[in-house]
Amino acid sequence: MNKDLIDKLNAQKQLSLTEWERLISDFSDTDRKYAADMAREISQSVFGKKIFIRGIVEFSNICRNDCLYCGIRRSNAELSRYRLTKEEIISCCKGGHEYGFRTFVLQSGEDAWFTVDRTADIVREIKKLFPDCAVTLSMGEMEREDYARLKAAGADRYLLRHETADKTHYEKLHPSSMSWEHRMKCLRDLKDLGFQTGAGMMIGSPYQTAECLAEDMQFLSEFRPHMIGLGPFIPHKDTPFRDMPSGSYELTLFLLSLCRIMLPEVLLPATTALGTINPKGREEGVLAGANVIMPNLSPLAVRKKYMLYDNKICTGDESAQCRNCLEMRMRSIGYEISVSRGDFGGTYK
Ligand code: 5AD
Ligand code: FES
Repeated sequence: MNKDLIDKLNAQKQLSLTEWERLISDFSDTDRKYAADMAREISQSVFGKKIFIRGIVEFSNICRNDCLYCGIRRSNAELSRYRLTKEEIISCCKGGHEYGFRTFVLQSGEDAWFTVDRTADIVREIKKLFPDCAVTLSMGEMEREDYARLKAAGADRYLLRHETADKTHYEKLHPSSMSWEHRMKCLRDLKDLGFQTGAGMMIGSPYQTAECLAEDMQFLSEFRPHMIGLGPFIPHKDTPFRDMPSGSYELTLFLLSLCRIMLPEVLLPATTALGTINPKGREEGVLAGANVIMPNLSPLAVRKKYMLYDNKICTGDESAQCRNCLEMRMRSIGYEISVSRGDFGGTYK
């Protein structure tokens, strides 16, 4: 039984590396439920029974990077590539706005066509058309100056998962052209520039150990991101990790709960990957302490081309269907969708 460690995390909001390792490598179903109950209570005390929704527009699957786990990596020659126009992106947001979305997440591969100037122009246009909405960018690593210009254009938030806090592990997941140090610098720059900043990692990525996850949890506790994206690793058939096993569903839920206990006010999505490895994943994620859901607003025609991993859900459903489906799913567990912007309301910088 690890209830004592969960209580300690709740009281002190941190654990030592060895305590984290113990908790992560050896937990029972009872521990997991204990953490989920505690996390759900904390989440309800901060957010009520309201779930924030973010509409994701996957605007390009062209990527200069070659992350070994990712289906849209440069070396995947099987994939047909696409890039939405500014008008198409804005039309996704228009649809989304009608369905009640007040946050748009613009996500893409690292596509050189979307220079800072072009991206800033799109951000400005969206902010002008929808002044009541937040714009979140998720388009990878850039230099500080670039991030600063996007912030000046009106972008409110930025998602960049750190992927792993362990440098050696990072190097097993990425080609040598990418650097862990630069990734971490990007995150510090983003936060420093005033973005609401999201970090996060896959659970069960190849070569990940309990020690890696312990380092991730310590990193999150020190860095204090405003948002944390956690999802299971799921292999993609056209990547070098095609034969690696998926991450554990139970461990993902457990870590969601531990993140909520550690950072009560953090914005914590029940991710699409969690919904992909289990049909009730998003509901159970919410019941384990998550408070955000991020459905897809991309045009139906391109959805199957933004396959980061195999069998990704919601690639055949119109945005309106997803919106209704989520509404029902949340109602089924006693929650309501919130149509507010859902900004980070905590006190930490
Ligand atoms: N399985 C699960 N998540 C993945 N991501 C990329 N590839 C996979 C995969 N095979 C996640 C990464 C990235 C985010 C956009 O999607 O963590 O940061
Ligand atoms: Fe997309 Fe259910 S959320 S179909």
